[in-house]
Amino acid sequence: MFTSKYTNVIDLTDYGTEWWLSLVKLASDIYDDPDKYAHAAQGKIMATLFYEPSTRTQMSFQTAMLKLGGTIIGFDNPATSSVAKGENLKDTTKIVSSYSDILVMRHPEEGAAKAAALTADCPIINAGDGSHLHPSQTLLDMLTLYREKGRLEDLTIGLCGDLLNGRTVHSMCKALCGFKGIHFVLISAPELGMPDYIKDMLDAAHCSYTEESSLENAIGSLDMLYMTRVQKERFSSEEEYLRLKDVYTLDPAKLAKGKKDLIVMHPLPRVDEITMDVDEDPRAMYFKQAHYGVFARMALILTVLNDPMKPNALLKGETADMQCRNPKCITQKEKYLPRSFTGKFAECEYCSCRNA
Ligand code: NCD
Repeated sequence: MFTSKYTNVIDLTDYGTEWWLSLVKLASDIYDDPDKYAHAAQGKIMATLFYEPSTRTQMSFQTAMLKLGGTIIGFDNPATSSVAKGENLKDTTKIVSSYSDILVMRHPEEGAAKAAALTADCPIINAGDGSHLHPSQTLLDMLTLYREKGRLEDLTIGLCGDLLNGRTVHSMCKALCGFKGIHFVLISAPELGMPDYIKDMLDAAHCSYTEESSLENAIGSLDMLYMTRVQKERFSSEEEYLRLKDVYTLDPAKLAKGKKDLIVMHPLPRVDEITMDVDEDPRAMYFKQAHYGVFARMALILTVLNDPMKPNALLKGETADMQCRNPKCITQKEKYLPRSFTGKFAECEYCSCRNA
């Protein structure tokens, strides 16, 4: 068992539903009166280590810290840091965490934030680890639902697109399955369906879901439609990407079948999955959703800074002398990491890949 003494935000299951709800409420309060929080993080430093491209996540985290009166350090291109000289993740995060009060990390390998948290000297926030998870995106998605639908319960939510590789939809299922009356409609091509470990988690939480292949058929029942991009960078074959990239496109004709009070969300960036003529429809919420990201991240930063020492179980299972079979698992490159697997499927505790 590896426990960190810090308030890390790696997975949606690190803290209970109440904790996430309190963050949503704090974010909503900050949105209504940001000036009240203008000095709340004065004297604090946030590091952003982005090993993978980002516009919104990185800039909204940085904006959030600046609006709280704090300061920022970091890199957004590992090629200009000592990573290019071959430095491992442990050494980089060990040092940067000793310079900062909070460290926000995005990384292409799954489980990277957890790996960093094993040895970091400040709280780590996972800003996206490969196809795995993206908890702070989910927080802003919850804030959008809370403000635009007025509730986080009794909602029929359509998740559409690349449900296999999209980390935002994995995180959303993990967070919202704890709320009453949530029904997910999973809309994807069979090749890009929701991973089994997420579907099993929905079953275990008694959260209902159905699987659909037609957006037209599903849209009429939805309170919220979450469109996602086919994640080009996660494909090993360009041909496969090209074959699947345009399966789902939301256009005004399809949107016409949606309820009047439907909201359409998207974590962005959009490629071709929502046509631009949808942008003027009052149900298109994706730009406002991205704007909410600043306030969601202000709430997250503040909560972690105000209570930075909430002990956090990182590896709960037995360490094992076995290699995870996921080629994108952080343990493939960072060989020094202790391996740990849990449950009957020997689920890797870094990337959630099933090894049995
Ligand atoms: C998402 C991500 O990085 O996972 N974007 C974001 O954080 N706003 C979605 C995506 O890249 O498709």
